[in-house]
Amino acid sequence: MRRKIVAGNWKMNGSRGLVEQLVPPILSGMASLAKDVDVVVFPPALFVRDVVESGSPDVGVGVQNLACWSGGAYTGEISADMARDSGCGYALVGHSERRQLFAETDSQIAAKIVQAVNSDLTAVLCVGETLEQRRAGTAEHVVAAQMRAGLADVGSDQWSRIVVAYEPVWAIGTGKTATADDAQAMHAAIRQALSAFGAPAENISLLYGGSVKADNAAALFAQHDIDGGLIGGASLKADEFMSICRAVPGEC
Ligand code: PGA
Repeated sequence: MRRKIVAGNWKMNGSRGLVEQLVPPILSGMASLAKDVDVVVFPPALFVRDVVESGSPDVGVGVQNLACWSGGAYTGEISADMARDSGCGYALVGHSERRQLFAETDSQIAAKIVQAVNSDLTAVLCVGETLEQRRAGTAEHVVAAQMRAGLADVGSDQWSRIVVAYEPVWAIGTGKTATADDAQAMHAAIRQALSAFGAPAENISLLYGGSVKADNAAALFAQHDIDGGLIGGASLKADEFMSICRAVPGEC
């Protein structure tokens, strides 16, 4: 059975004060969630320890990015081992903001995935098409290609450390969400592409991201191939984030 995951990507927002505001209500709300839901937050790296110290082990913690290398003279970078050593269990890799604003390439993303899984982190690979690509009818092709490139070097015994987040670029931070039907269709296509790629697709959690809010989460999470969400803006408000977490179906 694949895990359900709701993850909050704080991006470059917040402060240590926000950690103190957000983590306690997440912890106290955990009892009201379906049993098989993992809640994860991706704070700015400087606040990872604060989250780990106030929320661990119930709340998973991850970095929003990591280095392609295991260590050395790479000023400003953070390695997968450092993230692990600081208490992280997860790493986001290939978020569209990293691809677009920092020109991250598929080969760098593939190297980061390897670093993450070799350090026993669960890597959340982000994939998604632009509006132009969707309009041109190439969305599934683009997303499958990103998936194959990003996961090219995952070892056959490392798939349990892989999660894929489908985040259409046009839906991120825009208030536009894919319809539940469109999101389900893409998730089914990703699962099929994973299977064709030789991955144990039925066991890999697929998350939807892009303007998920308390009022649209239930319809998305009810879909067969959507195993949870990657939440940006709405993860900065405890009430809304917990409402989204509660929208995952299942027994408490
Ligand atoms: P959003 O961001 O929920 O604010 O659209 C999602 C993301 O970028 O992961």
